Amino acid sequence: MGTRITPSILNSDLSKLADEVARIPSADLVHLDVMDNRFVPNLTLGLPVIESLRRHIAMPMDVHLMIAEVDRWAPAYADAGCESVTFHIEASNAPVRLARELRSLGARAAMGLRPATAIEPYADLLPELDMVLLMTVEPGFGGQAFLDIVLPKIARTRALLDKLGKELWLQVDGGVSAQTIERCAEAGADTFVAGSAVYSADDPDAVVRALAEQARAVRPN
Ligand code: DX5
Ligand code: ZN
Repeated sequence: MGTRITPSILNSDLSKLADEVARIPSADLVHLDVMDNRFVPNLTLGLPVIESLRRHIAMPMDVHLMIAEVDRWAPAYADAGCESVTFHIEASNAPVRLARELRSLGARAAMGLRPATAIEPYADLLPELDMVLLMTVEPGFGGQAFLDIVLPKIARTRALLDKLGKELWLQVDGGVSAQTIERCAEAGADTFVAGSAVYSADDPDAVVRALAEQARAVRPN
């Protein structure tokens, strides 16, 4: 149970990643967006950077793979010591095998969905997972406006998870800020990615703490 803030470093100063992570000590995990210019029309960072960062930060790492051929690449991120590895269901040919492999390597296994991808076809997959990530913008870029149309899917996912009776985190990613986090929490999200809202502030950790407080006020348990 509980709520978590997992800030995205996408809009931070990427030339000093470890220092940027050090600016958000109140974060629960740091969210790292890997993009390959195939699954999404943008290119960010990949395995060598994640491996280097692992050696420099103690904060748990929540890697969000927005890449094609994810079945082939995702296990290496678990091997590199990422505590949570999210693959997109749209990019996976064998999600059950992949989730089991990630878990066997010691990572939490998470499934990501684009805004227009329904959760229902994947209901049977949920016991294999530790987290579901629902994109609340089209993946690819930070700083986009939150898509309200995803709110009903957050609620339907929450209902599926509650029925399961096993604790899975429900993460929302994209446009999460002081203006939108309560709507997400009310719909049932408990884990919140915030990128530009955190790193556009002079004191990013103060934003993390304020978001955590807003989320906890809606979901006190
Ligand atoms: C977008 C990424 C997000 C992004 C969030 O494709 O997955 O993690 O960094 O940034 P904001 O919070 O600015 O929407
Ligand atoms: Zn992300």
